[in-house]
Amino acid sequence: MKKVYVTRRVPQKALDLLEAEFRLEVNPHDRILTREELAEAAQDAEGLLCLLTDQIDGKLLDKMPRLKMVANCAVGYDNIDVRACTERNIVVSNTPGVLTETTADMAWALLMAAARRVAEADRYVREEKFKAWAPMLLLGEDVYKRVLGIVGMGRIGAAVAKRASGFNMTVLYYAPHRKSPQEEQELGVEYRNLEDLIREADYISLHVPLNETTRHLLGRQEFKQMKQTAYLINTSRGPVIDEKALVEALKNKELAGAALDVYENEPQLEPGLAEMDNVTLAPHIASATVETRTKMAVMAAENLLAGLKGEKIPNLINRELES
Ligand code: GLV
Repeated sequence: MKKVYVTRRVPQKALDLLEAEFRLEVNPHDRILTREELAEAAQDAEGLLCLLTDQIDGKLLDKMPRLKMVANCAVGYDNIDVRACTERNIVVSNTPGVLTETTADMAWALLMAAARRVAEADRYVREEKFKAWAPMLLLGEDVYKRVLGIVGMGRIGAAVAKRASGFNMTVLYYAPHRKSPQEEQELGVEYRNLEDLIREADYISLHVPLNETTRHLLGRQEFKQMKQTAYLINTSRGPVIDEKALVEALKNKELAGAALDVYENEPQLEPGLAEMDNVTLAPHIASATVETRTKMAVMAAENLLAGLKGEKIPNLINRELES
């Protein structure tokens, strides 16, 4: 029986699927394994179900000589050196689609929280500072009729755009590949180059994958171009933002605030970030609903089942290995 190793406990439904077909082993600890622990635990595995907190690179793969497949339980797969996998004939899959709406909801939750100072207001009440209604208390910014700038117009960017229509917003987007006029019309979005989007938007929400073209896409120069009243929302990957430059820009009031679910050196925060009241912070939970996390785990398991049985893998990334 082929061995499958799961690097962290995921919803049972996915484990049941794997257990029916393979010799299943699951990380017994409620924590991320060290590289050494992972290498040892999965040394004889043919399949690996891993998470975005596992760095899968050539050196690690060399310690798993029987490995045929890596199924990432995430849509983003910047934690995996896909080229190193391909070189070793190891197929890689991810979990697109199932987390689109949930992640878009979270981008909106952060946008609204930033605009209306929800986290700050919560702290205010808990700290027993709320003595009476006051005309100037915790005034925020409106969302409706403002300009939303979406960077990246894949599945999640599009789902974020759709939600904006109820707020009567003007929605701008930047993406390396412009949509067709018909798609733009259906989504109610207008194309801008990145610089114009940054200059015009009241809210900028990031929805690009992390790769060499998107690392530090927003840095010192871009923050200077933002409206001083604008907010930055990030539910994509931390390194898309130069976090040090962001802290500087916030200190210099080059933008009004930020709402972040992801961090450049996750889980560490750039010093200064957590001290600012105009920054809303979440611990990388954009896809974290019971339903979505279950769907993601099941999808990862189904990819693994297909791959190890030699069937067509629904969400294959390194397609050059498709037989
Ligand atoms: C979460 O961050 C994911 O990429 O699925």
